[in-house]
Amino acid sequence: MAGLYLHIPFCAHKCHYCDFFSAPPAGDQLATWHLLLERNLRLIGTEQRPEIETIFFGGGTPSLLSPAQVSSTLACCRELFPLSQNIEISLEANPGTLTASSLAGFLAAGINRLSLGIQSFDNKYLQLLGRGHSAEEAAKSFMLARDIGFTNISVDLIFALPGQGPSDLEQEIEKLLALSPEHVGIYGLSVENDTLLQEMVTRGQVAEVDEETYAKSYLQLNRLLSAAGYEHYEISNFARPGFRCRHNQAYWQRKTCLAAGAGAHAFDATGYGKRSAIPPDLMNYQQQLNRGQNPAELLEEFDQRQAMAETLYLALRTSEGVDSAAFAQRFGISLAEAFPAALASLSPHLQQRGNHYFFTAESWLLYDHLISHFL
Ligand SMILES: C[S@@+](CC[C@H](N)C(=O)[O-])C[C@H]1O[C@@H](n2cnc3c(N)ncnc32)[C@H](O)[C@@H]1O
Ligand code: SF4
Repeated sequence: MAGLYLHIPFCAHKCHYCDFFSAPPAGDQLATWHLLLERNLRLIGTEQRPEIETIFFGGGTPSLLSPAQVSSTLACCRELFPLSQNIEISLEANPGTLTASSLAGFLAAGINRLSLGIQSFDNKYLQLLGRGHSAEEAAKSFMLARDIGFTNISVDLIFALPGQGPSDLEQEIEKLLALSPEHVGIYGLSVENDTLLQEMVTRGQVAEVDEETYAKSYLQLNRLLSAAGYEHYEISNFARPGFRCRHNQAYWQRKTCLAAGAGAHAFDATGYGKRSAIPPDLMNYQQQLNRGQNPAELLEEFDQRQAMAETLYLALRTSEGVDSAAFAQRFGISLAEAFPAALASLSPHLQQRGNHYFFTAESWLLYDHLISHFL
């Protein structure tokens, strides 16, 4: 059993805050991307053919692909790999890129989960972020997707925006809840190197929020979304019961995930695990595929200690936390024996339910600091 990640490194334009591997497509790069993905998939298929439980078209902006391209890529997946009967197939979509006909096409192609990057329902913030859509267009895209038949829609929001106070955030959530998505991703604005946003901060045009505001906003989102029936099942993710993202859950559980597309990352769970990546270089990617070479490069091969640490800190991102009995069975050593000092320092923050140790939302605010004991 495995997941499959497909990277689409193209965006109509670059958002001011984004440092992901994506750029406006040049020439016929977008029109021919599915052909490269398919060549890449065939190379993977010569080495392994696990049953695929989830497929994720991520980006970049996968909704720039045509439904015919998505359909052709999925037909290639079907030909190469056994697909689970109840497979989850997600596609990240940007509101400005969707039409009734493209949405109907994606649904007919087999996409059964849409992840819509709305980011904010306030046009002032959408402009600051450099998004290519308005709040009205975003809500319209959501409703169109719903009308066309998507029954599993996720919405991404960015919080901790400059000057965003509790009442702004309450309005964001009010507008979000009016759409009633099945899943919500929340990301605190992070000022990344070499982005326009960083320049704006350096020039003093934009002020980052302080730690206290960030923490208050995060806990406010936790309260409002929990009260509306969403489970805060991972640091940045909320879902209605039955609608957790199975593709991302597999990542936090260190399950095998194949990957195609320049900039994509894969994980092979055999042994203690290996992580590989396809370098974010479009020219090199195409040349290697033309020569019949697998473009993936090994990034890290885990030993037992590294695998134990990663098992623990990825599990602590989730509301289930780490299952100490499963951990001991998997590694032949208990959590307490494996990490005595680190666990002692974590213990004030850890909650226990049966064999599971987990963080609450308050502790997730300190996640980066807390897991530094295991890195
Ligand atoms: C790489 S994007 C891909 C999805 C799609 N292209 C979009 O922008 O809607 C995945 C998510 O990461 C979040 N994100 C990316 N860069 C971020 C940043 N610097 N700070 C906070 N969130 C960020 C956004 O919420 C975005 O929806
Ligand atoms: S659309 Fe998404 S991936 Fe593309 S630049 Fe904007 S945030 Fe980055």
